[in-house]
Amino acid sequence: MLAGKRILLIIGGGIAAYKSLDLMRRLRDQGATVVPVLTRAAEEFVTPLSVAALAGHKVYRDLFDLNEEAEMGHIQLSRSADLILVAPATADLMGKMANGLANDLASTLLMATDTPVMIAPAMNVRMWEHPATRRNLATLTGGGITCVGPEEGAMACGEFGPGRLSEVDQIVAAVADHFADGPLTGRHVIVTSGPTHEPIDPVRYIANRSSGAQGSAIAAALVALGAKVTFITGPASVAPPAGVDVVAVETAQAMYDAVHAALPADAAIFAAAVADWRVTNASGSKMKKDGSGSLPQLEFAQNPDILATISQLEEHRPELVVGFAAETDDVIANATLKRARKGCDWIVANDVSPETGIMGGAENAVTVITAEGGESWPRAGKDEVARNLAAKIAKALT
Ligand code: CTP
Repeated sequence: MLAGKRILLIIGGGIAAYKSLDLMRRLRDQGATVVPVLTRAAEEFVTPLSVAALAGHKVYRDLFDLNEEAEMGHIQLSRSADLILVAPATADLMGKMANGLANDLASTLLMATDTPVMIAPAMNVRMWEHPATRRNLATLTGGGITCVGPEEGAMACGEFGPGRLSEVDQIVAAVADHFADGPLTGRHVIVTSGPTHEPIDPVRYIANRSSGAQGSAIAAALVALGAKVTFITGPASVAPPAGVDVVAVETAQAMYDAVHAALPADAAIFAAAVADWRVTNASGSKMKKDGSGSLPQLEFAQNPDILATISQLEEHRPELVVGFAAETDDVIANATLKRARKGCDWIVANDVSPETGIMGGAENAVTVITAEGGESWPRAGKDEVARNLAAKIAKALT
């Protein structure tokens, strides 16, 4: 079932680390290659020798082992896997992952990777319920990381509650699910996300308040259904999800070029808040006050409309083109007109008036406008909206 799959298993330091030995055996039974990484704390619970024996593979332990760097750099090590599995994921490892710390081999691999990541947490119940762990978990799952467990039960420390590592069977099942075909397996979807930055001079630019949260969540939901996603993102504050091919751009023109370069695609979802205008007389060096009180005179040109161009392509038009309409007034009427004007199949309309808290916030309330009319969805977390949209896209493409 897992034949040909390469799983990088990061073993964190906790009493549950001993279960990773059985986990490796079971993953190998299913045909997977297991490449083990031990944190220093994990070595207090399981020995490198027993891990290597059960993995049938060399154990990676130290970031500064030059031999290993010469053999296989940590970047390559993290990217050559089909899945990174962190089991047990300790509170410390989750904190490092959520906050971008990279001070040992395990955390550096997790920072450097662009492959999907799954965590199986195990820790004391109070640590699991601590607000810091809740925040870290939300950041990790919001970024597309899959979490298995933990389970509720009696713990080695004598307390009772959620915090036990999931049974090995359950972790293996979650890994198998991860590799199972989804309704979008074999489909290529382009997603644009985030704001664009239009330079005024080398240090100043015109931007907007888009965080990229909705675009990232949509890309993660499409990956979860098996799609190959090209994620073309402006300078967003939310990180791209795991498992996508990231193309980072800055300006609307660069986003336009990247979208065209990513064709052909089965669907294209334009969630980016693209700047409508760029500055044509941007300065090559930093603009200075000249002391006379004279003000800079900026001149603008209209940026190419990516959504409209792709919607109206004669050749290579994706089967499904979805645009977004961020409106502050007459949301549905404006979005319906926008759908017709741009020539896309669907418009996902939302009200971004400041009092809704939607732009840059965690929730969204959308109306999906199709040829059949409008469908309003209840206000929900951006992840849930993304999952519903991905399911609707999958249905439309099959
Ligand atoms: N869009 C795009 N390229 C642009 C501008 C917008 O691809 N240059 C896409 C956005 O990603 C979004 C949709 O078009 O999917 C709607 O963008 P919006 O800025 O809301 O609409 P506008 O075309 O700018 O119309 P208006 O300014 O009248 O609201």
